[in-house]
Amino acid sequence: MSDSSVPLTFDAIAVRDAEFPSLRETVYLNAAAVAPLPNRSRVAVEAFNGRRSRIGELDDSCFEEPLRRCREAAARLIGADAGEIALGGNTSYGINLAALGLPLEPGTSALVSDREFPANVYPWMGLRDRGVELEIAGVDALGHPDEERLLERLERGGVSVFALSAVQFASGYRADLARLGAACRRTGTYFVVDAIQALGQVPIDVGAMQIDVLATGGHKWLCGPFGTGFAYVRRELHEVLRPRAIGWTAMQASADFAHLTDYRWEFLDDARRFELGTLPFQDLMGFACSMELLLEVGVERISAHLASLLEPLIAWLHHRPGVEMVSDLRPEHRSGIFCFRPPAAEVVFGALREGGVHCVLREGAIRLSPHLYNTREDIDLVMDILSSEMAD
Ligand SMILES: Cc1ncc(COP(=O)(O)O)c(C=O)c1O
Repeated sequence: MSDSSVPLTFDAIAVRDAEFPSLRETVYLNAAAVAPLPNRSRVAVEAFNGRRSRIGELDDSCFEEPLRRCREAAARLIGADAGEIALGGNTSYGINLAALGLPLEPGTSALVSDREFPANVYPWMGLRDRGVELEIAGVDALGHPDEERLLERLERGGVSVFALSAVQFASGYRADLARLGAACRRTGTYFVVDAIQALGQVPIDVGAMQIDVLATGGHKWLCGPFGTGFAYVRRELHEVLRPRAIGWTAMQASADFAHLTDYRWEFLDDARRFELGTLPFQDLMGFACSMELLLEVGVERISAHLASLLEPLIAWLHHRPGVEMVSDLRPEHRSGIFCFRPPAAEVVFGALREGGVHCVLREGAIRLSPHLYNTREDIDLVMDILSSEMAD
């Protein structure tokens, strides 16, 4: 995993100035909703569209490059092979791919935790007419996924698939995916991970975590354009997971554009078999650039940067009366999403917004989600506003 000889720091101001210059004027702490597009990605999307409008400049390489670069960058981000990446428009694409395509036996359950984002609940609820019941495991006393209860449920048997967010949207809780993945493998349960709140800010290794299918959209921590995303499908499952929505580009025979009507029911031999027709090339060009930026900086470094930004704020809030820490603050369960509920949360939230801080209220708590472009000064401003609003 991490190489201890590599310093876990980088120059966030330089990254911000080069790629996110508008953030010199704003304090943006809302990557968990949508992150800004880096300059290089915007330029790449515009350049692609420019060639598109001068149609003669658009040749075959223009279509191949964004797909290849996206698959390679996505694979590097999660420790996979590019042949295990299927490009799709959002997280829902990958979760539905798993829900509809995995061979789940009637009479078994699909297990999720309570308080999951709905994108990771409804596709499983939709399996009822195939005889697969959704089971929602209760959260722990603090409202986080109850990992002990989930493990115990997996061990009892009868669960064919378990789906969990790597990081919870409303608390920032980071799950112990390696432990849960090991339990899934041991009990013959498919393990599906919604990674949209994790990728780009929390290191993910699909092999070490024994993930079968991972799904993400690109517009949050991955800083990609809207409508981009990908699914990882573990190589050994390529023949097991039967795509229920069939794309013509998924088929071997479609590689020959001169004979497209020579139909043959033979899927491509990698995860492109799960893709659905023509893709948004211009946006994927931007998505590739965004993921490459994150890889250049390094997700371990971004993770360490976010921890060091949030630490003084968390330490300070600990000493304030009446503040409820909604996030789990044990180091292994922290992420770059930090949620807390001060007394009169809505008033305090209003003051932050008034003071120019972009953040949101989720389930009655203030949610802060800094990213690689944020600086210590941004957090100082938050603390200044909080200290005048929360005076004793
Ligand atoms: C955990 C989680 N999953 C999924 C989504 C979104 O799903 P999709 O990418 O399908 O719109 C969000 C937020 O929008 C989320 O927080």
